[in-house]
Amino acid sequence: MAKRPVGRADDSTWEITTEPIPEPGDGEFVVRVEYISLDPAMRGWIGEVPTYVEPVEIGAVMRAHAVGRVHASRHPEYEVGQTVSGMFGVCEYAVSDGRHDVLHVDESLAPAPAWLGALGFPGLTAYFGLLDVGKMKPGDTVLISGAAGAVGSIAGQIAKLSGCRVIGVAGGPEKCAWLTEELGYDVAIDYKAGSIGKALRAAAPKGIDVYFDNVGGEVLESALGHLRRGARIALCGGISSYNATDPQPGPSRYMQLLMKRASLTGFIVFDFARRYPEAYAALGHWIRRGDVVTHEQVETGGIEAYGRTMNMLFDGANTGKLVLQVGDGLASAAPAAAQAASS
Ligand SMILES: NC(=O)c1ccc[n+]([C@@H]2O[C@H](COP(=O)([O-])OP(=O)(O)OC[C@H]3O[C@@H](n4cnc5c(N)ncnc54)[C@H](OP(=O)(O)O)[C@@H]3O)[C@@H](O)[C@H]2O)c1
Repeated sequence: MAKRPVGRADDSTWEITTEPIPEPGDGEFVVRVEYISLDPAMRGWIGEVPTYVEPVEIGAVMRAHAVGRVHASRHPEYEVGQTVSGMFGVCEYAVSDGRHDVLHVDESLAPAPAWLGALGFPGLTAYFGLLDVGKMKPGDTVLISGAAGAVGSIAGQIAKLSGCRVIGVAGGPEKCAWLTEELGYDVAIDYKAGSIGKALRAAAPKGIDVYFDNVGGEVLESALGHLRRGARIALCGGISSYNATDPQPGPSRYMQLLMKRASLTGFIVFDFARRYPEAYAALGHWIRRGDVVTHEQVETGGIEAYGRTMNMLFDGANTGKLVLQVGDGLASAAPAAAQAASS
């Protein structure tokens, strides 16, 4: 990162530098990064104010979750050729000591990019956000914003599997059609097409029990006006204001929380780290059975395309999980290649 942005990040935010490929020290390995995860939170990480993590320092490699292949190793648990995920950053080669959420990737379960989506933080976020924070139960009416994105597309499918009526909010008719035709959402509301409140009243005349909020802003405002008594709002994100340069107004229907004896709880997926194995087991089971469909939009162009690709999130130009390919791609031959390399 070259410079902290004001508003949207642009070309001046980033600088591409070239350095020798690192050598692993004792207990370390080097990863050839193949896919980089694009996350709305990245906008927060490059701001001046600490969020739930420290800001990325000017001059440092941009923080990013990524999947790659072990290129060189002096670590007993990581062999050359194995596929791994971790916080490797926006770079082509990274050094790791295997700590801090580094995982062996099982490409027989799902292709490498899915380990940044349904089997990465978005899937974990959807799982804990709905089941723990939102306390979702069968029969609930569940509203999900950012419904066609990485977190929302998994959240909607988990809610359906849990026996809920599921309403998604997304931008544009194509995304809305995808929600109902492919992901099993009962209703999709195009928030760019007209009044969200009116559409919500028609979709959930008795109100909503759970709102999984990815966007804040006017969708949150409408959701607050349609809560059922005892409703739970899981505050996952507020992308509508991530690039804002002025302070944003709070929701004017705040007192609805009191009237409806409702709760609004913010959460960060990292808080559930000890229970990741439980979520991986459930998500893996659903994916294996075909109950959860994963969808990744893989952009190309290498790390030079990082800035442009990150901004696609704020333009709604992604469906499902947005990923940037920076290497040759690990495609379907990866497990055999990994085996050959390690034997
Ligand atoms: N709490 C946690 O631990 C945690 C973890 C992961 C992610 N998150 C949060 O979860 C949310 C979704 O993340 P994601 O990775 O799944 O991203 P994503 O939904 O795949 O991508 C972002 C989407 O946000 C929508 N969007 C952009 N600007 C908007 C606006 N002004 N108003 C309404 N919608 C807008 C766009 O969809 P449309 O075309 O539908 O507008 C875009 O495709 C983000 O807020 C993120 O910060 C939180």
